[in-house]
Amino acid sequence: MVTYTRVFKVDPVRPDVDVIRYAASVIREGGLVAFPTETVYGLGANAFDARAVERIYVVKGRPIDNPVIVHVCDLRQLELVASRIPEDAYRLVERLWPGPLTLLLPRGPRIPYVVTAGLETVAVRMPAHPVALELIREAGVPVAAPSANLSGKPSPTRGEHVVEDLYSRVEVILDAGETLYGVESTIINLLSEPPMLLRPGAYPVEDIERILGKSITVPEFARGLGEAERALAPGMRHRHYAPNTPLVLVEADDYSELQRLLDATRKVVLDHKMRGLKVAVLSYTETYRYYEGVADRVLVIGSRGNIYEVARNLFATLRAVDKLGVDVAVVEGVEERGLGLAVMNRVRKASTVKIKV
Ligand code: TXA
Ligand code: MG
Repeated sequence: MVTYTRVFKVDPVRPDVDVIRYAASVIREGGLVAFPTETVYGLGANAFDARAVERIYVVKGRPIDNPVIVHVCDLRQLELVASRIPEDAYRLVERLWPGPLTLLLPRGPRIPYVVTAGLETVAVRMPAHPVALELIREAGVPVAAPSANLSGKPSPTRGEHVVEDLYSRVEVILDAGETLYGVESTIINLLSEPPMLLRPGAYPVEDIERILGKSITVPEFARGLGEAERALAPGMRHRHYAPNTPLVLVEADDYSELQRLLDATRKVVLDHKMRGLKVAVLSYTETYRYYEGVADRVLVIGSRGNIYEVARNLFATLRAVDKLGVDVAVVEGVEERGLGLAVMNRVRKASTVKIKV
């Protein structure tokens, strides 16, 4: 199917009212609109319209067993989307919405099964981005939206990433520049006791535990390790965020001994070079010089001292790898603390080989 795509540049803080009205009318009429959030760009459809949501799966090439998140603009909409909402949910929502926290709640009767992939739970969040909030408000319906990338590719953090993946497949792309966090929302299942982290994201799990006053279980799959059970975390089983270029991840047991990590990474680069391959390294401002004269290309993701910067640049860097003309890329891991947990989850899922030193 050929679709005529209209791309609008919008101001991230004060978007043009006419553009928002037009995009909202497309949503109401069953069309698809890609829009910015504070995490990554989303591909939105009316969450009450099963046929519109079906098209999201087709356009992305998304496996039909992987449910999508419903985005709301206020608590009235939350109560249309979910039912039997627990007290803990309200406690978190009061403090952290709008923001990058997604809650797993019992599905409300108006939400079609195509949104939840047949599950009786629904994932809900209120995005902290003026364009997203205005779009949902103007549409007057909750908006079902996965990340606006082709399935398997890194999530889009810039308008041009969305254009690259979805041009001629969706009706509207709202381009408001670079997103703030660069990794997706944190997903918590509040229906299990203790609550469980399903996907680490832009809000550190440590902060959420503090607000709840209880600890949250962090299963292996949330760290990007092992296989998740489909019933628990349907989206965590698929390979994700991956460049087409093979990616080798080198991670440390102890990041205070950085030199060991650097030596091991350099050795991986040299091993590949000896086999006649072109190699790129994904490194950090503190350490990238270590590969000068060794690697063919070096990309700096950000500073090890600023995990926000690393998270924000991660997906754009993974997308850039395929444009370097190398045979393999090697990436250094970071410590799994705060946002580092989200970064390592993404990098593990993107990598083809993992080495631990
Ligand atoms: O920050 C974000 O969350 C972005 C922006 C656009 O809001 N959205 C996003 O959506 O990352 P997506 O589809 O790429 O990831 C949604 C994740 C998937 O891993 C999916 O399996 C999980 O949420 N999910 C959705 N509904 C679920 C449910 N009922 N039970 C368990 N997991 C669910
Ligand atoms: Mg996604």
